[in-house]
Amino acid sequence: MDKLAITGGTRLEGEVRISGAKNSALPLLAATILASTPVTLNNVPDLHDIKTMMRILSHMGMTITKGENGQVIIDANTLTQAVAPYELVKTMRASIFVLGSLVTRFKEAYVSLPGGCAIGSRPVDQHLKALEALGAVVTVEKGYVHAKVDGRLRGGRILFDVVTVGGTENAMMAATLAEGTTIIENAAREPEVVDLANMLKKMGANIEGAGTDRIVIEGVEALTGCEYSVCPDRIETGSYLAAAVVTGGRIRATHTDPKLLDAVLLKFLEMGALVSTGEDWIEIDMQGKRPRAVSFRTLPHPAFPTDMQAQFMAINAISEGTSTVNETIFENRFMHVPELNRMGANIEVDGHTAVVRGVGKLDGAPVMATDLRASMSLVLAALAAEGDTVIDRIYHIDRGYERVEEKLSLLGAKIRRISSRVNA
Ligand code: EPZ
Repeated sequence: MDKLAITGGTRLEGEVRISGAKNSALPLLAATILASTPVTLNNVPDLHDIKTMMRILSHMGMTITKGENGQVIIDANTLTQAVAPYELVKTMRASIFVLGSLVTRFKEAYVSLPGGCAIGSRPVDQHLKALEALGAVVTVEKGYVHAKVDGRLRGGRILFDVVTVGGTENAMMAATLAEGTTIIENAAREPEVVDLANMLKKMGANIEGAGTDRIVIEGVEALTGCEYSVCPDRIETGSYLAAAVVTGGRIRATHTDPKLLDAVLLKFLEMGALVSTGEDWIEIDMQGKRPRAVSFRTLPHPAFPTDMQAQFMAINAISEGTSTVNETIFENRFMHVPELNRMGANIEVDGHTAVVRGVGKLDGAPVMATDLRASMSLVLAALAAEGDTVIDRIYHIDRGYERVEEKLSLLGAKIRRISSRVNA
C-alpha cells in the first residue's frame, strides 16, 4: 500500500487548479445511460472512484472513449446487460446511482447492494422507496437490488424521510423518462444535484426546482446526448484553502466557483483568514497568523458540508481556543480523531460531538488513513506539524483527490509518495 511522507512546518503559497467534482461526475456518468445518442463529458477528474464507475458502465456493455484533458465520450446504445456486479459495487457505493437510469430506460436492473463504508452503514432505503413511488417493483435478493417495471415508470410524489443527495439524484434520473409529473419533496439542495439537473435539461429533460427542496419533473419520451462540463469540486477547493489556513500561508484556488462553498468561506473568515474571490477563483491569506478555533455542525447544503468536517477538525486542532464539532449526517465520521491525537491533538469525542482544545503544535508521527476525507485531515495536520509524518493506506485519498502530492508540492509542501509496488 502506498504511503505519503510529509515534512511539516512550511507555509504553503501559490496557485492550485481545482478539478471537476467527483460527487458530480459520478451521477453525471450514471445519467449517460439515459441518452439515446452519445454524451461528451468534459472536466472529468482522474480519480479511482471515476475509473470504477466507468468500469461498471463498460461491464454493462456501454462504449467509453477517453479523450484529452478529462474528456470522456459515452455511448449507452451498446448496453447489453443492466447488471452492476458486487465485485465492482463493493469498492464504490455510489454505483447505486445507475439504478434509476437503468430502470426508467431499460425497464429492469440488477445492482448489487452497496456495502456500508468506514463512515457509516450508508443505507439505500430512500433510493428504493423513490423507485417504488414511480411504479417500479423492487426486491432485494442475495445482496442484489432487482428493480423492474412493465411498460413505463409513472410520475408520482416522493417525500424523502431524510435529505439524501444520492437518493435525490437517483429519483431525478428515474423521473426524466417516467410518464407524467414527478414531485420530489425534502430534496437535497447540493450543487451536484443542480449540476445533474443542468445536464439532464441539456439532454431534453423537463426539470424545475433543482437546488431547492422541491423538484418537479415532467417525464419525456426520450433523452438525447449532449456535451457537458462537470462543475468544480467544492470539497477539493475547501481542502486546499484549508492548507493555507493550517500553515499560515496564502493560496489561490482557480477553475472553481466561490458560490459553491459559501458556508465554508464564512468559517474561514471566522478563523481570521483574509478571503478574496473572483468569478472562478478564491484566495485565502492567513498572513502567518494562528487561526482562531471555530465551532460548527454539519448539515445538508447550503449549511456546512460534512465532507469538510475532518479538514476543519485538523485546523481546530492547532487553533487558538476550544471548539465543538457536531457531525449530524454520518454516524461514524470521527475516525481521524485518534490519529490526530497521536500527533498531539487534544480532541475528545462524545457520540456525534467532538470537543477540540487547540494546542500550540502537533508532532509528526506515523498515522493511518481510514476514509477519504479523514486522509485529507491527516495531510493537513502533517503540513502543520513539526517533523516528519508518514500516512499509510493513502489509497483512500486517491479516491477523491487528483494528483494530491503534485498539487501540494506546487504549493511548496515537502511531500512525496512512497510506493509499495516493488519494481518488477
Ligand atoms: C453523497 O453521499 C456524497 N457522495 C458524500 O460524499 C456526502 O458526504 C453525502 O452525499 C452527504 O453530503 C457522492 O455524492 C458520491 P446521502 P450519499 O444519501 O448520497 C442517510 C465524499 O467524501 N440515508 O446524502 O450517499 C445516510 O445514511 C462522500 O465525497 C438513508 O438513511 O449521502 C446519511 O446519514 C462521503 N437512506 C444521510 O442520509 C438512504 O437511502 C445523507 O446521506 C440514503 C441516505
